[in-house]
Amino acid sequence: MPEPRLKKILSVFEGKKGGLISILQRVQEEFGYLPEEALAEIADFLRLPASEVFSVATFYAHFYLTRRGDHLVRVCQGTACYVRGARDILETAQHRLGIKTGQTTEDYKYSLERVACVGSCAMAPVVMIDDDVHAKMTPLKMNELLAKNKEKGSEGGLP
Ligand code: FES
Repeated sequence: MPEPRLKKILSVFEGKKGGLISILQRVQEEFGYLPEEALAEIADFLRLPASEVFSVATFYAHFYLTRRGDHLVRVCQGTACYVRGARDILETAQHRLGIKTGQTTEDYKYSLERVACVGSCAMAPVVMIDDDVHAKMTPLKMNELLAKNKEKGSEGGLP
């Protein structure tokens, strides 16, 4: 029996052809990632082999199979940022959050990613926290930014 939120999503696609990608997108919007049980339910719903659903979910980089943090910290490692010290900024973020790139903090507050150019090279080096762009970053500014966010604690607010 699917989880109620999943059941509701699947009901929208009842009787429609295809829709695997759309279902995966909706499920990820709802849960923040694609839980393994949901993939099995989706496979059942679409009468597809579970392996097929799994391979589609793993093929696209924007689908996540593990729970993500409430906030996504993306440190640009594109050329313009890299030559201005982006590597040190990424190391600072890893140290401050106590995780490696691609990981999520134990409290599920933050996930950390490295990205190639985010299209703001003039502001390099750049860090994005959720949809906010932080320009001309330094390791010190990275530390301050994350410290400020942590202080906000349970509210999980970001500047
Ligand atoms: S290389 Fe970082 S924004 Fe372009």
